[in-house]
Amino acid sequence: MSTLVEPTTATGLRFPAGFWWGAATAAYQVEGSVDADGRAPSIWDTFAAVPGRIDGGHTGERACDHYRRHAGDVDLMARLGLTAYRFSISWPRVLPGGRLNSAGLDFYDRLVDDLLAAGITPTATLYHWDLPQALEDEGGWLNRSIADRFADYTAAVAGRLGDRVGMWNTLNEPWCSAFLGYGSGGHAPGRRDYAAALTAAHHLLLAHGRAAEVLRATCPDAQISIAVNAGCVRPHTDSPADHDAARKIDGLLNRIFLDPLLLGAYPADVQADTAAVSDWSFVHAGDLETISQPIDALGVNYYQPDRVSFSTEGPADPYPTGGSVAFHQTPGPVTDMGWTIDETGLHSLLLRITRDYGPIPLYVTENGAAFTDRVTPAGAVHDPDRIDFLRRHFTAAHQAIQEGVELRGYFVWSLLDNFEWAFGYTKRFGLIHVDYETQQRTLKDSALWYSSVIAANGLG
Ligand code: GCO
Repeated sequence: MSTLVEPTTATGLRFPAGFWWGAATAAYQVEGSVDADGRAPSIWDTFAAVPGRIDGGHTGERACDHYRRHAGDVDLMARLGLTAYRFSISWPRVLPGGRLNSAGLDFYDRLVDDLLAAGITPTATLYHWDLPQALEDEGGWLNRSIADRFADYTAAVAGRLGDRVGMWNTLNEPWCSAFLGYGSGGHAPGRRDYAAALTAAHHLLLAHGRAAEVLRATCPDAQISIAVNAGCVRPHTDSPADHDAARKIDGLLNRIFLDPLLLGAYPADVQADTAAVSDWSFVHAGDLETISQPIDALGVNYYQPDRVSFSTEGPADPYPTGGSVAFHQTPGPVTDMGWTIDETGLHSLLLRITRDYGPIPLYVTENGAAFTDRVTPAGAVHDPDRIDFLRRHFTAAHQAIQEGVELRGYFVWSLLDNFEWAFGYTKRFGLIHVDYETQQRTLKDSALWYSSVIAANGLG
């Protein structure tokens, strides 16, 4: 791992011409209007309604009211000079109960048109975790036919928006859907079953492949991608046992998705490590060809590195490691999530993906930080910690580009403070502060700073 030189003071860094400077959101986290215009419930509506699941008993019922305020939000994006906006499409708005709901699609149609009119490239994620509850009732991601349903949904969306969306992310963070949704149960639908998590992971990948086929046929000019929460996994000490623990977690976090997607095979060590949990009979002939068809780019969501050691203490929930791995906090300052601020993890990750799977164009599809932001009486939000966080990570990304990584864009998480899943509204990741009572938006200092980065296509 290389050491970065004074990242907080770096200036004069210029990114490649045409670099995408974006911000990201997700449907359930920002839209609200969960009953509007024929939308059906998703697994997150169900999950959030269960007492104790979400901090403060919060739900996405109102969120940032982006469904009704999207035009004003696009104006704010234009004011910042964003060149791309990554949003997700709500499956239960578009296909509630399996019927096409034009009113639901109309919303995304308007959003895409508004973005294009503002000179912002629409980047659409098809699945950011809000599975229609009706499909979960049929087994959700454990039911192999979900891949067909996802292909149908993709066809419906691409048929309407495919002429205008610049980049598609089929899935967002399939690891979270599989291992938090079906393994640890910390996310919707809240199941706790390691074998189910592995099955779900495969069906998610299969659905990705089916969707990619549909997109390739429907919108040949758009880039097809998938956003993964790949991580930089480091051994806690240099002992062989800790290196082996890092190999296991790297397998279950990164290679279990990247190998089938980009190399056309599941890693043998991951299959061996999980043999006691599952026999992997969910993989059928032809699946890996579907999963590994060419994509145009890979999206990487990065927040902090992972640090692991060998352990005899019990399961490294939500990973099915048979109780042989423990997680450790990486030393250093942390964000309000308790996540260590370490941009060297991003640098290592980008280089590693390029080395092991490349060359493939990469986008940082999410990176950002939660801090406890407050609006001052004068109507400002001073968030120097977030500016420092972003400056460090932009510098790390720039260094990776100089070392040969084909990084084409960067999406800050998030455009707006929003519903942070199990944490409800208690964590603020936005460049723009949201007062959830009044829905007043306030540009944080980091938003203004990011605007100057975009204008300069770099730092300083
Ligand atoms: C995820 C999601 C986002 C989160 C963000 C901060 O990675 O969990 O893509 O929806 O809000 O990552 O946790």
